[in-house]
Amino acid sequence: MKKANNPAMEHLLRLAHEASKKAHAPYSNFPVGAALADEKGEIFLGANVENVSLGLTICAERSAVACAIAGGASKLKAIAIYSPEANEPLHPCGACLQVLAEFAEDMDIYSGSADGKTLHTTLKELLPRAFRR
Ligand code: THU
Repeated sequence: MKKANNPAMEHLLRLAHEASKKAHAPYSNFPVGAALADEKGEIFLGANVENVSLGLTICAERSAVACAIAGGASKLKAIAIYSPEANEPLHPCGACLQVLAEFAEDMDIYSGSADGKTLHTTLKELLPRAFRR
């Protein structure tokens, strides 16, 4: 894992922070925002959307993927995630990693916590053996 310090990452993390303000997280009180960049440099946002039937909750990362694909993206390059409630930079959950792997062999994953810590990992690092056919 590398400590993140590049301008593209800082920009995506700022957008993820903004996106976290749109989260619908009344059950966990853990809002998460995501900002996803495709190969063309277009950026798409997502936030977690919880449901009273808790298992129907959508994570911020998958919300951003749906937004990106519906918006015309095909290959994904980088994602940033942020929660104001996170004491440490988050990793995407396993389900989200597999969904990201549908649209990228590998990609940068940036994460930020409320006290300003950042982390740069990659999809291959977090999910080295994604299910692929
Ligand atoms: N959550 C995300 O949106 N992304 C993650 O990477 C981890 C967890 C959401 C799901 C749920 O709404 C809340 O955070 C608490 O788990």
